[in-house]
Amino acid sequence: MTSLLKLSAGASMPVIGFGTWQASDAELEAALEAALEAGYRHIDTAYVYENEAAIGRVLAKWLNSGKVKREELFIVTKLPPAGNHPDRVEKYLKRSLDNLGLDYVDLYLVHVPFGFLEKGEDIHPVESDGNILLDKSTNHINIWKAMEAQVDAGLAKSIGLSNFNISQIKRVLQSARIPPSNLQVELHAFFQQKELVDFCKEHNIIVCAYAPLGSRGTAKLYERAGISKDFPDLLNNPKVLEVAEKYGKTPAQILLRHIVQRGIAAIPKSTNPDRIQQNLQIHDFELSSEDVVSLNKLDQGSDGRILDFRFFKGIKNHPEYPF
Ligand code: A2P
Repeated sequence: MTSLLKLSAGASMPVIGFGTWQASDAELEAALEAALEAGYRHIDTAYVYENEAAIGRVLAKWLNSGKVKREELFIVTKLPPAGNHPDRVEKYLKRSLDNLGLDYVDLYLVHVPFGFLEKGEDIHPVESDGNILLDKSTNHINIWKAMEAQVDAGLAKSIGLSNFNISQIKRVLQSARIPPSNLQVELHAFFQQKELVDFCKEHNIIVCAYAPLGSRGTAKLYERAGISKDFPDLLNNPKVLEVAEKYGKTPAQILLRHIVQRGIAAIPKSTNPDRIQQNLQIHDFELSSEDVVSLNKLDQGSDGRILDFRFFKGIKNHPEYPF
Protein backbone atom coordinates (compact mmCIF):
# COMPACT_ATOMS: atom_id res chain seq x y z
CA MET A 1 0.00 0.00 0.00
CA THR A 2 0.99 3.57 -0.27
CA SER A 3 1.15 6.51 2.10
CA LEU A 4 -1.24 9.44 1.95
CA LEU A 5 -0.97 13.20 1.43
CA LYS A 6 -3.62 15.42 2.98
CA LEU A 7 -5.29 17.86 0.59
CA SER A 8 -6.52 21.24 1.85
CA ALA A 9 -10.13 20.25 1.15
CA GLY A 10 -9.71 17.41 3.67
CA ALA A 11 -9.31 14.38 1.41
CA SER A 12 -6.29 12.08 1.47
CA MET A 13 -4.43 11.41 -1.76
CA PRO A 14 -2.31 8.26 -2.05
CA VAL A 15 1.20 9.44 -2.79
CA ILE A 16 1.66 7.02 -5.70
CA GLY A 17 -1.03 7.01 -8.33
CA PHE A 18 -1.44 4.94 -11.46
CA GLY A 19 -0.78 7.03 -14.59
CA THR A 20 -2.85 6.08 -17.63
CA TRP A 21 -1.86 8.47 -20.43
CA GLN A 22 -1.07 6.83 -23.76
CA ALA A 23 -2.19 3.30 -23.10
CA SER A 24 -4.61 1.58 -25.47
CA ASP A 25 -7.93 0.40 -23.99
CA ALA A 26 -7.15 -3.32 -23.94
CA GLU A 27 -3.65 -2.71 -22.58
CA LEU A 28 -5.00 -0.33 -20.01
CA GLU A 29 -7.78 -2.59 -18.73
CA ALA A 30 -5.26 -5.37 -18.06
CA ALA A 31 -2.80 -2.90 -16.52
CA LEU A 32 -5.43 -1.34 -14.28
CA GLU A 33 -6.45 -4.79 -13.04
CA ALA A 34 -2.80 -5.43 -12.19
CA ALA A 35 -2.52 -2.01 -10.54
CA LEU A 36 -5.58 -2.52 -8.35
CA GLU A 37 -4.34 -6.00 -7.40
CA ALA A 38 -0.97 -4.49 -6.50
CA GLY A 39 -2.71 -2.00 -4.21
CA TYR A 40 -2.97 1.21 -6.24
CA ARG A 41 -6.02 3.20 -5.18
CA HIS A 42 -5.16 6.54 -6.81
CA ILE A 43 -5.88 6.52 -10.54
CA ASP A 44 -5.09 9.42 -12.80
CA THR A 45 -6.88 9.99 -16.08
CA ALA A 46 -8.22 12.87 -18.18
CA TYR A 47 -11.05 13.47 -20.62
CA VAL A 48 -8.50 13.92 -23.43
CA TYR A 49 -6.81 10.59 -22.74
CA GLU A 50 -9.98 9.01 -24.17
CA ASN A 51 -9.62 6.08 -21.80
CA GLU A 52 -12.09 6.98 -19.06
CA ALA A 53 -14.64 4.44 -20.30
CA ALA A 54 -12.06 1.64 -20.21
CA ILE A 55 -11.14 2.67 -16.67
CA GLY A 56 -14.84 2.80 -15.81
CA ARG A 57 -15.31 -0.80 -16.97
CA VAL A 58 -12.59 -2.05 -14.64
CA LEU A 59 -13.80 0.09 -11.74
CA ALA A 60 -17.35 -1.21 -12.18
CA LYS A 61 -16.07 -4.76 -11.95
CA TRP A 62 -14.11 -4.05 -8.77
CA LEU A 63 -16.85 -1.98 -7.16
CA ASN A 64 -19.70 -4.33 -8.04
CA SER A 65 -17.85 -7.37 -6.77
CA GLY A 66 -17.09 -5.57 -3.51
CA LYS A 67 -13.32 -6.03 -4.01
CA VAL A 68 -12.96 -2.32 -3.40
CA LYS A 69 -15.22 0.33 -1.93
CA ARG A 70 -15.74 3.65 -3.66
CA GLU A 71 -14.42 5.55 -0.63
CA GLU A 72 -11.13 3.63 -0.84
CA LEU A 73 -10.47 4.94 -4.33
CA PHE A 74 -8.98 8.29 -5.28
CA ILE A 75 -9.99 9.03 -8.87
CA VAL A 76 -8.58 12.03 -10.71
CA THR A 77 -9.69 13.37 -14.07
CA LYS A 78 -9.28 16.65 -15.90
CA LEU A 79 -11.22 19.33 -17.77
CA PRO A 80 -10.13 19.29 -21.43
CA PRO A 81 -8.78 22.46 -23.09
CA ALA A 82 -11.99 22.69 -25.14
CA GLY A 83 -13.82 22.86 -21.80
CA ASN A 84 -11.84 25.86 -20.57
CA HIS A 85 -14.89 28.09 -20.46
CA PRO A 86 -17.23 28.58 -17.48
CA ASP A 87 -20.26 27.41 -19.50
CA ARG A 88 -18.62 24.10 -20.37
CA VAL A 89 -17.09 22.88 -17.10
CA GLU A 90 -20.17 21.08 -15.83
CA LYS A 91 -20.82 19.46 -19.21
CA TYR A 92 -17.32 17.97 -19.44
CA LEU A 93 -17.22 16.85 -15.82
CA LYS A 94 -20.57 15.09 -16.27
CA ARG A 95 -19.27 13.39 -19.41
CA SER A 96 -16.20 12.19 -17.52
CA LEU A 97 -18.37 10.89 -14.68
CA ASP A 98 -20.56 9.12 -17.20
CA ASN A 99 -17.51 7.55 -18.86
CA LEU A 100 -16.08 6.48 -15.51
CA GLY A 101 -19.45 5.27 -14.20
CA LEU A 102 -19.03 7.33 -11.04
CA ASP A 103 -21.16 9.87 -9.14
CA TYR A 104 -18.18 12.00 -8.20
CA VAL A 105 -14.44 12.27 -8.74
CA ASP A 106 -12.05 12.75 -5.88
CA LEU A 107 -10.12 15.42 -7.72
CA TYR A 108 -10.99 17.44 -10.83
CA LEU A 109 -8.18 19.42 -12.42
CA VAL A 110 -8.13 22.16 -15.04
CA HIS A 111 -5.84 20.23 -17.39
CA VAL A 112 -4.02 23.15 -19.03
CA PRO A 113 -4.14 26.94 -18.69
CA PHE A 114 -4.81 27.53 -22.41
CA GLY A 115 -8.20 26.99 -24.04
CA PHE A 116 -9.35 25.58 -27.39
CA LEU A 117 -12.56 26.37 -29.22
CA GLU A 118 -15.04 23.55 -29.48
CA LYS A 119 -15.29 21.93 -32.90
CA GLY A 120 -17.70 19.04 -32.76
CA GLU A 121 -16.22 16.36 -30.58
CA ASP A 122 -12.58 17.01 -31.55
CA ILE A 123 -10.47 16.90 -28.44
CA HIS A 124 -7.68 18.68 -30.31
CA PRO A 125 -9.49 20.83 -32.90
CA VAL A 126 -7.32 22.23 -35.69
CA GLU A 127 -7.74 24.85 -38.39
CA SER A 128 -7.23 24.08 -42.09
CA ASP A 129 -3.56 25.11 -41.79
CA GLY A 130 -3.01 22.53 -39.05
CA ASN A 131 -2.84 25.12 -36.29
CA ILE A 132 -4.68 24.28 -33.11
CA LEU A 133 -7.98 26.16 -32.81
CA LEU A 134 -7.23 28.47 -29.89
CA ASP A 135 -9.81 30.20 -27.73
CA LYS A 136 -7.78 33.23 -26.72
CA SER A 137 -10.47 34.52 -24.35
CA THR A 138 -9.61 31.95 -21.65
CA ASN A 139 -10.43 33.45 -18.25
CA HIS A 140 -9.09 31.45 -15.32
CA ILE A 141 -11.09 33.30 -12.69
CA ASN A 142 -14.40 32.51 -14.36
CA ILE A 143 -13.40 28.92 -15.06
CA TRP A 144 -12.42 28.51 -11.42
CA LYS A 145 -15.84 29.74 -10.27
CA ALA A 146 -17.38 27.00 -12.41
CA MET A 147 -14.95 24.49 -10.89
CA GLU A 148 -16.04 25.56 -7.39
CA ALA A 149 -19.67 25.04 -8.41
CA GLN A 150 -18.81 21.37 -9.15
CA VAL A 151 -17.64 20.94 -5.54
CA ASP A 152 -20.86 22.58 -4.33
CA ALA A 153 -22.85 20.16 -6.51
CA GLY A 154 -20.96 17.17 -5.06
CA LEU A 155 -19.51 16.13 -8.40
CA ALA A 156 -15.89 16.73 -7.35
CA LYS A 157 -14.56 16.36 -3.80
CA SER A 158 -11.46 18.49 -4.48
CA ILE A 159 -10.38 20.72 -7.34
CA GLY A 160 -7.01 21.75 -8.65
CA LEU A 161 -4.86 22.84 -11.55
CA SER A 162 -2.41 21.27 -13.95
CA ASN A 163 0.36 22.82 -16.06
CA PHE A 164 -0.25 26.30 -14.59
CA ASN A 165 2.73 28.53 -13.81
CA ILE A 166 3.21 30.50 -10.58
CA SER A 167 1.65 33.75 -11.79
CA GLN A 168 -1.38 31.90 -13.15
CA ILE A 169 -1.84 30.04 -9.85
CA LYS A 170 -1.50 33.33 -7.93
CA ARG A 171 -4.30 34.84 -9.99
CA VAL A 172 -6.61 31.92 -9.22
CA LEU A 173 -5.69 32.00 -5.52
CA GLN A 174 -6.52 35.70 -5.28
CA SER A 175 -10.15 35.19 -6.22
CA ALA A 176 -10.76 31.60 -5.12
CA ARG A 177 -13.46 30.74 -2.61
CA ILE A 178 -12.19 27.14 -2.63
CA PRO A 179 -8.44 27.31 -3.19
CA PRO A 180 -6.86 24.76 -5.53
CA SER A 181 -5.66 21.85 -3.40
CA ASN A 182 -3.50 20.17 -6.01
CA LEU A 183 -1.19 21.08 -8.87
CA GLN A 184 -0.17 18.41 -11.35
CA VAL A 185 2.94 19.26 -13.34
CA GLU A 186 5.85 17.60 -15.08
CA LEU A 187 8.45 16.85 -12.42
CA HIS A 188 11.40 14.45 -12.32
CA ALA A 189 15.09 14.29 -11.46
CA PHE A 190 16.10 16.44 -14.45
CA PHE A 191 13.29 18.96 -13.85
CA GLN A 192 12.78 19.30 -10.12
CA GLN A 193 10.66 22.49 -10.18
CA LYS A 194 12.03 23.80 -6.87
CA GLU A 195 10.54 27.29 -7.07
CA LEU A 196 7.10 26.01 -8.06
CA VAL A 197 7.13 23.34 -5.34
CA ASP A 198 8.16 25.91 -2.69
CA PHE A 199 5.37 28.21 -3.85
CA CYS A 200 2.82 25.39 -3.60
CA LYS A 201 4.03 24.38 -0.13
CA GLU A 202 3.57 27.97 1.00
CA HIS A 203 -0.01 27.91 -0.29
CA ASN A 204 -0.98 24.45 0.95
CA ILE A 205 -1.18 23.00 -2.56
CA ILE A 206 -0.05 19.38 -2.87
CA VAL A 207 2.06 18.84 -5.99
CA CYS A 208 1.67 15.73 -8.12
CA ALA A 209 4.48 14.80 -10.52
CA TYR A 210 3.65 13.59 -13.98
CA ALA A 211 6.32 12.03 -16.20
CA PRO A 212 8.21 11.08 -13.00
CA LEU A 213 10.33 8.58 -14.94
CA GLY A 214 10.94 10.85 -17.93
CA SER A 215 7.97 9.79 -20.02
CA ARG A 216 9.92 8.41 -22.99
CA GLY A 217 6.66 6.96 -24.25
CA THR A 218 5.54 10.46 -25.24
CA ALA A 219 8.41 10.87 -27.74
CA LYS A 220 6.05 9.64 -30.46
CA LEU A 221 3.81 12.68 -29.98
CA TYR A 222 6.66 14.92 -31.04
CA GLU A 223 7.68 12.58 -33.86
CA ARG A 224 4.12 12.71 -35.22
CA ALA A 225 4.20 16.51 -35.09
CA GLY A 226 7.55 16.50 -36.97
CA ILE A 227 9.42 18.08 -34.04
CA SER A 228 12.85 16.66 -33.30
CA LYS A 229 13.49 16.46 -29.61
CA ASP A 230 15.88 14.58 -27.33
CA PHE A 231 14.23 12.54 -24.63
CA PRO A 232 16.50 12.15 -21.61
CA ASP A 233 17.10 8.65 -20.31
CA LEU A 234 16.61 9.09 -16.58
CA LEU A 235 16.35 5.37 -15.96
CA ASN A 236 19.89 4.81 -17.27
CA ASN A 237 21.49 7.88 -15.75
CA PRO A 238 24.81 6.83 -14.10
CA LYS A 239 24.04 8.59 -10.80
CA VAL A 240 20.56 7.01 -10.62
CA LEU A 241 22.08 3.59 -11.42
CA GLU A 242 24.74 4.08 -8.73
CA VAL A 243 22.16 4.96 -6.06
CA ALA A 244 19.92 2.10 -7.20
CA GLU A 245 22.80 -0.34 -6.79
CA LYS A 246 23.57 1.01 -3.32
CA TYR A 247 20.00 0.49 -2.04
CA GLY A 248 19.30 -2.70 -3.96
CA LYS A 249 16.39 -0.95 -5.71
CA THR A 250 15.56 -0.29 -9.35
CA PRO A 251 16.31 3.09 -10.99
CA ALA A 252 12.56 3.74 -11.21
CA GLN A 253 12.17 3.17 -7.47
CA ILE A 254 15.02 5.60 -6.76
CA LEU A 255 13.51 8.26 -9.05
CA LEU A 256 10.08 7.86 -7.43
CA ARG A 257 11.46 7.80 -3.89
CA HIS A 258 13.42 10.99 -4.60
CA ILE A 259 10.15 12.73 -5.54
CA VAL A 260 8.04 11.29 -2.73
CA GLN A 261 10.59 12.23 -0.05
CA ARG A 262 9.91 15.86 -0.99
CA GLY A 263 6.25 15.44 -0.02
CA ILE A 264 5.22 15.24 -3.68
CA ALA A 265 2.84 12.67 -5.18
CA ALA A 266 3.75 10.86 -8.42
CA ILE A 267 1.79 9.02 -11.09
CA PRO A 268 4.15 6.66 -12.93
CA LYS A 269 2.57 5.00 -15.94
CA SER A 270 3.26 1.42 -16.81
CA THR A 271 1.45 -1.38 -18.60
CA ASN A 272 3.87 -4.04 -17.39
CA PRO A 273 2.66 -5.95 -14.26
CA ASP A 274 6.13 -6.25 -12.69
CA ARG A 275 6.91 -2.59 -13.20
CA ILE A 276 3.43 -1.61 -11.98
CA GLN A 277 4.16 -3.43 -8.69
CA GLN A 278 7.69 -2.15 -8.48
CA ASN A 279 6.61 1.47 -8.78
CA LEU A 280 4.40 1.12 -5.70
CA GLN A 281 7.12 -0.47 -3.58
CA ILE A 282 8.99 2.59 -2.51
CA HIS A 283 7.96 2.85 1.13
CA ASP A 284 10.37 0.31 2.61
CA PHE A 285 13.51 2.44 2.28
CA GLU A 286 14.63 6.02 2.68
CA LEU A 287 17.27 7.90 0.69
CA SER A 288 19.96 9.40 2.92
CA SER A 289 20.32 13.18 2.88
CA GLU A 290 23.66 12.74 1.07
CA ASP A 291 22.03 10.73 -1.70
CA VAL A 292 19.17 13.23 -1.91
CA VAL A 293 21.74 16.01 -2.38
CA SER A 294 23.53 14.11 -5.12
CA LEU A 295 20.24 13.35 -6.92
CA ASN A 296 19.24 17.00 -6.50
CA LYS A 297 22.30 17.87 -8.60
CA LEU A 298 20.74 16.16 -11.62
CA ASP A 299 18.31 19.08 -11.90
CA GLN A 300 18.70 20.96 -15.20
CA GLY A 301 16.25 23.73 -14.34
CA SER A 302 13.93 24.70 -17.17
CA ASP A 303 16.21 22.92 -19.69
CA GLY A 304 15.00 19.69 -18.10
CA ARG A 305 11.43 20.20 -19.23
CA ILE A 306 10.29 17.52 -21.68
CA LEU A 307 6.61 18.31 -22.30
CA ASP A 308 6.08 21.82 -23.58
CA PHE A 309 2.92 21.24 -25.69
CA ARG A 310 4.63 22.24 -28.92
CA PHE A 311 3.00 19.18 -30.50
CA PHE A 312 -0.05 21.50 -30.68
CA LYS A 313 0.93 23.65 -33.68
CA GLY A 314 0.68 27.35 -32.81
CA ILE A 315 0.15 26.77 -29.09
CA LYS A 316 2.60 29.48 -28.09
CA ASN A 317 0.20 32.07 -29.59
CA HIS A 318 -2.24 31.54 -26.73
CA PRO A 319 -1.99 34.36 -24.14
CA GLU A 320 -2.05 31.79 -21.33
CA TYR A 321 0.66 29.51 -22.76
CA PRO A 322 2.40 28.79 -19.46
CA PHE A 323 6.05 28.12 -20.29
P1 A2P B 1 6.05 0.35 -19.59
O1 A2P B 1 4.61 0.75 -19.69
O2 A2P B 1 6.47 -0.62 -20.66
O3 A2P B 1 6.43 -0.11 -18.19
P2 A2P B 1 6.27 8.20 -17.12
O4 A2P B 1 5.48 7.64 -16.00
O5 A2P B 1 7.40 9.09 -16.69
O6 A2P B 1 5.43 8.82 -18.20
O7 A2P B 1 7.05 6.98 -17.80
C1 A2P B 1 6.38 5.95 -18.37
C2 A2P B 1 7.35 5.13 -19.18
O8 A2P B 1 8.30 4.49 -18.31
C3 A2P B 1 6.64 4.05 -19.91
O9 A2P B 1 7.29 3.94 -21.17
C4 A2P B 1 6.87 2.80 -19.07
O10 A2P B 1 6.95 1.66 -19.89
C5 A2P B 1 8.19 3.07 -18.42
N1 A2P B 1 8.25 2.54 -17.05
C6 A2P B 1 7.29 2.60 -16.09
N2 A2P B 1 7.71 2.05 -14.95
C7 A2P B 1 8.97 1.60 -15.18
C8 A2P B 1 9.94 0.93 -14.38
N3 A2P B 1 9.69 0.60 -13.12
N4 A2P B 1 11.14 0.63 -14.97
C9 A2P B 1 11.38 0.95 -16.25
N5 A2P B 1 10.52 1.60 -17.06
C10 A2P B 1 9.32 1.92 -16.53
